[in-house]
Amino acid sequence: MCGIVGYVGHRDAAPMLLEGLQRLEYRGYDSAGVALVHRGRLKTHKAAVRVRELKEQVGKAPGVVGVAHTRWATHGEVTDVNAHPHTDTSGRFAVVHNGIVENSDELRAKLSAQGVTLVSETDTEALAHMIAASAEQHETLEDAVRAALRGVEGTYGLVVLDARRPAELVVARNGSPIVLGVGEGEMFIASDVAALVRHTQRVVYLEDGEIATVRAGDFETSGRAETVDLADEDYQLGEFPDFMRKEMAEQPEAVRRALRGRLDSRFATAHLGGLRLDPRDLRAVRRVKFLGCGTAYYAGQIGANLVEELARIPADAEPASEFRYRNPVVDPDTLYVAISQSGETLDTLAAVQELKRKGGKVIGAVNVVGSAVARECGSGVFLHAGPEVSVASTKAFTNMAVSFAMLALWLGRVRDLSAAHGTRLVSALQQLPDQIASILETDYEVAAVARKYAHASHMFFIGRVRGWPVAREGAQKLKEISYVHAEAYQAAELKHGPLALIDAQMPSVVVVPRDELLAKNIGTIEQIKARGGPVIAVTNADLPDGLADAVLRVPRNEPELDPVLLTIPLQMLAYHVASALGRDIDKPRNLAKSVTVE
Ligand code: F6R
Repeated sequence: MCGIVGYVGHRDAAPMLLEGLQRLEYRGYDSAGVALVHRGRLKTHKAAVRVRELKEQVGKAPGVVGVAHTRWATHGEVTDVNAHPHTDTSGRFAVVHNGIVENSDELRAKLSAQGVTLVSETDTEALAHMIAASAEQHETLEDAVRAALRGVEGTYGLVVLDARRPAELVVARNGSPIVLGVGEGEMFIASDVAALVRHTQRVVYLEDGEIATVRAGDFETSGRAETVDLADEDYQLGEFPDFMRKEMAEQPEAVRRALRGRLDSRFATAHLGGLRLDPRDLRAVRRVKFLGCGTAYYAGQIGANLVEELARIPADAEPASEFRYRNPVVDPDTLYVAISQSGETLDTLAAVQELKRKGGKVIGAVNVVGSAVARECGSGVFLHAGPEVSVASTKAFTNMAVSFAMLALWLGRVRDLSAAHGTRLVSALQQLPDQIASILETDYEVAAVARKYAHASHMFFIGRVRGWPVAREGAQKLKEISYVHAEAYQAAELKHGPLALIDAQMPSVVVVPRDELLAKNIGTIEQIKARGGPVIAVTNADLPDGLADAVLRVPRNEPELDPVLLTIPLQMLAYHVASALGRDIDKPRNLAKSVTVE
């Protein structure tokens, strides 16, 4: 959420900053800006435009030091003046900021009382003025920033540029990530490694509370430089029209990576080495609670169902965003699983911190290695989905569900799950990549169904038990990228109210696994059809001819893994509806990847 880039070195900074911004545009795309220092003067270019247009404005602006930002608006509307970087009145200091200054009203009022004219509505502008005032009283920029930040409540990842000190940048982190990229006589700064890997794989993550000075040839931080296993190609579209399509197509390979080295055919189980738990610890678990936001929460629901089914341990999922606010009872025998693709989602991170404060046992299920949630949890399951750029999460969701199937299998096998059942699941998991690939090959049929229903203003997504989180995730994907209103309902709940909405204009997508509830799900479809509602069935069962208006098929596997396969056509359906409606698929309105604010 918001992207930050900084550069100090010997090359022209503008091309590097703009290209970095383009890599980070998925983190926010309301507006963009760059500030450069050349011959002792600060020059800022910023506007409520996409990075592509900013590039034209900036052209070949000179300067070997600069900062840049792509914004997801929190304080203040999407306008040119609210875009970052923000400067002080004299135009000497430029600040780019990711996060929220919670006491910004108070700080702005104080500045106004001192006679400072604030030109924007943002919280960040106050920081620029405060740093300028503090610089009058401190020798170094770092000290000035440290003193100014003492009065700031809230979260920040920020980079400060001083026109009078063009050989350095000062960075600070509190709740919003900042990573340094170590080059040869040059340094890169970003809020996400995506913006750095084109130039260097050697990175240093700033710790929370840390403030540091970065110069072309040196920096001092508490963390050590490490090498990230990421390449620039991971962030390129290649032959694909957008990242969502690319990432959906990567799912077979992503699942293969998640399974690699973790399945044990001999003992019919799975091993998740990162958990650092032995069988005795596993047996001590009396309850499992999954915490995540949005798509990660729905994946957690799949995880909870799997743990109950396979390990017979009570399990549930809860939105991480609610958890800390309801003063939860934290039970020492419960295993908490914090789920996050980015590992930076503030609500999930705060839930982990609340749990740790109360002595809870929490593990992470995280995609981004080195991220805040991964580090805070200290142990867990890495998802190995590879970088996910599209705002709409696809491959990370699938790898979450697959990882939870392995966790449930492991928990089950130290309890009562038979070796025969375990063996079936191990081979079922191994079949998933090829089965997902075969679903992706039905793209043409899914696209035809999507075109037929793309005009609908509303859609229901219906599922029960194993199909319920699938329906929720299907509705989520449709809403966020197509802006078609979608609501998920448990099948049996329909008759308790929402059935009143069914008519010929309200299509229902019904998730129908071939399990012990098949007859019930067929009954649900009949109830909808009887009221004139069109039905799209997503199924691995043989449904009676003519029962549904459209059928999206997936292959059969062990029933416990049906949710993994049944979700794939729903991703494709959302994608094709959005595409038929001409939406900007990777950058849906009002959203951004990695929600690092409350
Ligand atoms: C939906 C989506 C969001 C995220 C949610 C959590 O497609 O991407 O709902 O799943 O913001 O993000 P992470 O997993 O990064 O914590």
